[in-house]
Amino acid sequence: MLFILLALSLGPVGSERMYFFQSNATEWAVARNHCRSCFRELVSVTPDNAALLVGGLTNDTWTGLRKELDGPMDWSQWSNGDPLTFQNWYPARPDSNNSDDSCVKFLSFGPWFDQPCETELPYICYEDRFYGNLTVSNVSLTNMSLSWTPGPGNVSQYRVEVSGNTSQVLNSTGLTALVDSLIPGSLYRFQVFPVKCDRDLNPENATVYTKPERVTDLNVTSVTTKTATLRWRRPTGNVDGFLVEVEGFPTLNVTAPGEAASVDRLSPGKQFTFRVTTLVLDRSISGDPVSVSAFTKPDLVSRLQVSEVTTTMLNLSWARPEGGHDGYRVDWTGNWAFLNHTQTIFTESARLENLEPGTNYSIWVTALVANQSVEGDPVFITSYTRPDVITELTVTETTRTNIAVQWKPPANGSWQSFRVQVPESPALETVDLTANLTGLKSGKEYTVTVITLAADKTKLSDPVNVTTYTKLNEPKNLHNTSFNSTDIHLSWDVPENMEGVQSSYLINYTTRFWKLSHSVVARTNATILTDVRSGVEYSVTVQTLLQMGQNNVTSQPTTIKCSTKGVDRMLTLGMQCQSKDPLQCDTEQTREQAMKELKKLLNDKLDGVTWTLRWRDSSD
Ligand SMILES: *[C@@H]1O[C@H](CO)[C@@H](O)[C@H](O)[C@H]1NC(C)=O
Ligand SMILES: *[C@@H]1O[C@H](CO)[C@@H](O)[C@H](O)[C@H]1NC(C)=O
Ligand SMILES: *[C@@H]1O[C@H](CO)[C@@H](O)[C@H](O)[C@H]1NC(C)=O
Ligand SMILES: *[C@@H]1O[C@H](CO)[C@@H](O)[C@H](O)[C@H]1NC(C)=O
Ligand SMILES: *[C@@H]1O[C@H](CO)[C@@H](O)[C@H](O)[C@H]1NC(C)=O
Ligand SMILES: *[C@@H]1O[C@H](CO)[C@@H](O)[C@H](O)[C@H]1NC(C)=O
Ligand SMILES: *[C@@H]1O[C@H](CO)[C@@H](O)[C@H](O)[C@H]1NC(C)=O
Ligand SMILES: *[C@@H]1O[C@H](CO)[C@@H](O)[C@H](O)[C@H]1NC(C)=O
Ligand SMILES: *[C@@H]1O[C@H](CO)[C@@H](O)[C@H](O)[C@H]1NC(C)=O
Ligand SMILES: *[C@@H]1O[C@H](CO)[C@@H](O)[C@H](O)[C@H]1NC(C)=O
Ligand SMILES: *[C@@H]1O[C@H](CO)[C@@H](O)[C@H](O)[C@H]1NC(C)=O
Ligand SMILES: *[C@@H]1O[C@H](CO)[C@@H](O)[C@H](O)[C@H]1NC(C)=O
Repeated sequence: MLFILLALSLGPVGSERMYFFQSNATEWAVARNHCRSCFRELVSVTPDNAALLVGGLTNDTWTGLRKELDGPMDWSQWSNGDPLTFQNWYPARPDSNNSDDSCVKFLSFGPWFDQPCETELPYICYEDRFYGNLTVSNVSLTNMSLSWTPGPGNVSQYRVEVSGNTSQVLNSTGLTALVDSLIPGSLYRFQVFPVKCDRDLNPENATVYTKPERVTDLNVTSVTTKTATLRWRRPTGNVDGFLVEVEGFPTLNVTAPGEAASVDRLSPGKQFTFRVTTLVLDRSISGDPVSVSAFTKPDLVSRLQVSEVTTTMLNLSWARPEGGHDGYRVDWTGNWAFLNHTQTIFTESARLENLEPGTNYSIWVTALVANQSVEGDPVFITSYTRPDVITELTVTETTRTNIAVQWKPPANGSWQSFRVQVPESPALETVDLTANLTGLKSGKEYTVTVITLAADKTKLSDPVNVTTYTKLNEPKNLHNTSFNSTDIHLSWDVPENMEGVQSSYLINYTTRFWKLSHSVVARTNATILTDVRSGVEYSVTVQTLLQMGQNNVTSQPTTIKCSTKGVDRMLTLGMQCQSKDPLQCDTEQTREQAMKELKKLLNDKLDGVTWTLRWRDSSD
C-alpha cells in the first residue's frame, strides 16, 4: 500500500486536513468506499487546496465529485456533502452528452474532466487530523488508569505506548487501559494511537509522574535552639526532591535535594512535628508524608547570679530562658573537679548545701525540656563559699606600740590568707598564723580583728575579735614647779605617743618621817598636792592611768623627791658634861665629839625632816 500524505492547515489546530494519495487505480465507487472506511472521504476541491492537490499529480486522479451522487443533483455537491462552490473545468467540459452518472477527475496538470465512473484511476482521500484527549486517573506508585476519546471511523484497536524509565506497549480495543509495573516517582509519557486500516492516527498524549514512595528511617539527628536537622533514607524508585514542612508553621517549609535538611527559625525549647514528603520535579504529585517530632534545645538561662553565700551554702538565681523549658539542671563541682553534683529543679533558684568553706565552686545551669530529656547549653558561673572563721585568737605580746597575736586556722575548708586589723590602721594581710601590729598608740584599747580570706580575696569570713590595750608610757620630765610649807606644785609632760588618748595620772606621795602615803588622781599633766606636811621630804611618783573597762591600768612610775618648806621651830637641848678630868669637858675636841654623836642620833630620828643643829653655851 502506498500513501502519499499531503497536509493543509486551514486554520486553528484541530482542523488540520490531511490528504492521502491512493496510487492503485480503482473505479470511483470503490475508491470512495475505501476512503470512507480508512479515511474520511474522497477529496473535495476548494480554491484553497486546489493548487496543493494538483501540484503533486503525475496522472489523472479521481476527485469526490459525481454528477448524481445521491439522486439527480447535477454537479451540486461533493461526496462529503460540501456544496460545490468552485469549478475548474477543462474547456468544453463537462460534456452534456455524457451519461447522467459521470464522475470527475483531475487531469494530471490540474483542470477537471468528466469521466465514466467505472474507469479505474488513482484517487485522493482526506481526513482531518485527530486530536483526542487522554485522561490519566488513579495514579499510584506503580500503576494508573488511562481513558481516552474514541478515534474517528472504524478504529480497529488502540496501541498504548508507555515510555519513561521503563517502556511498554499495550493494545486495547476499548477506551481504557490499566498500566502497571511502573517505577514510583518517574515521569511517563503515554501515547494512545488509534489504529485504522493499519494506520496510526495522531496519538492522544499524556505525561504523568507516578507517585513517589515515601521516605524511611526519618530521624531528627540534632537540634539547636533554633534549628533541627533531619535525616532519612531515599526510597526505592525515583525522587526528585524532598519537602520538609513544620506542622503549624507553613512559612518554615524547606525543600532538600538529598537525604537531609535543616529547618531553622524555630523557637527554643518547643516541640515541633516535621513532615517529610517526596517530590517529583514538577510537584504534580507527592509521596505520602512521614512525620517525626522533636524538641528544640532550650535557650540559655539569663542573669545567672549567686544571690547569697555562706560558708557551706550558695544561693543561685536566674531568669527563665526565652521559649520553652520544663526544668533546670544544676551541676556543681568544688575542689574535686572530677566529682559532679547534680540537681534537677523546677524554679528559677537553687540552694547548694553541704559545701566546703572557702572553696571555689564551678556551677552550670542548664535549661531542660521534654520531661527534662532535652537539655540546652549550660550557663557557667563560679563562686567561692565564705571561708570559715579562725579559732583560738590570743594576744601573745603587747608593748607600748605593738600588739602581737596568734591563732589557729579554720577547722574546715580552704583559705588563702588572713586579714588582721585594728581600727584606724591599715589592714595587714598574711598567710602566717601570727601577726605583729606595730605603730599603735600607747595606752589605748584595741580590738584586733582577724578575717579569713578565700582565694578570690573577696569572700571573707566573719571577724574574730580580741580586745587588748597597748602599754602606757610613763610621764616624763616630772618636776615640782614651786612649793611652800603646805603645797607642792607638780608638773610633767604628757607621755609620748598618747596624744588624743583619754588618760589621767595617779600620783602617790609619801613622807618617810611621818610614815604617811597619799594618792590622788589628776586629769591633766599638773597638780598641786595640798595636804603635805611642812619641812619634810616627800617621795612623789606619777603614773599614767587608764580606765580599761572594769580595770585600771597604770604605766611604770616616774619618781622625784621634793621637800616642803620648813616652819622653823627651835629646840634647845641641854647637855651636862661630867669628867674626872675637869678640863676634859671644856675642850674643843670633846664638844665636837658630842655634836657628832648628837647629829647621828638626830639623823635617825628626824629622817626626812629639814633640821639644823647649832651649839650654844649655857651661859648665853
Ligand atoms: C487497491 O484497491 C483495492 C480496492 O479496489 C484494495 O482492496 C487494495 O487494497 C488496494 N491496494 C493498495 C495497494 O492500495
Ligand atoms: C500513470 O499512468 C501511466 C499510464 O497510464 C502508468 O503507467 C503509471 O504507472 C501511472 N502512474 C501512477 C503513479 O499511477
Ligand atoms: C501527541 O504528540 C505528538 C508528538 O509527539 C503530536 O504530534 C500530537 O499532535 C500530539 N497529540 C495531541 C492530541 O496533541
Ligand atoms: C479534549 O479536551 C479539550 C479541552 O478539555 C476539549 O476542548 C476537546 O473538545 C476535547 N477533545 C475531544 C476529542 O474530546
Ligand atoms: C498489538 O497489535 C499489533 C498489531 O495487531 C501486534 O503486532 C502486537 O503484537 C500487539 N501487541 C500486543 C502487546 O498485543
Ligand atoms: C534513624 O534512627 C534509627 C534508630 O535509631 C536508625 O536505625 C536509622 O538508621 C536512622 N536513620 C538514619 C537515616 O540515620
Ligand atoms: C509549605 O508547604 C505546604 C505544602 O506544600 C504549602 O501548603 C504551603 O503553602 C507552603 N508554604 C510556603 C511558605 O511555601
Ligand atoms: C560537670 O558538669 C558540667 C556541666 O554539665 C560539665 O561541663 C562537666 O564536664 C562535668 N564534669 C564532669 C567531671 O563530669
Ligand atoms: C613586733 O615588732 C616590734 C617592733 O618591730 C618588735 O620589737 C617585737 O619584738 C615584735 N614582736 C613579735 C612578737 O614579733
Ligand atoms: C568584731 O569587730 C568588728 C569590727 O570591729 C565588729 O563589727 C564585730 O561586731 C566584732 N565581733 C565580735 C564578735 O565582737
Ligand atoms: C602656800 O601657797 C599657796 C598657794 O599655792 C597659798 O594658798 C598658801 O597660803 C601658802 N601657804 C603659806 C603658809 O604661805
Ligand atoms: C600608789 O598608791 C596606791 C594606793 O594608794 C598603791 O596601790 C600603789 O602601789 C602606789 N603606787 C606606787 C608606785 O607606790
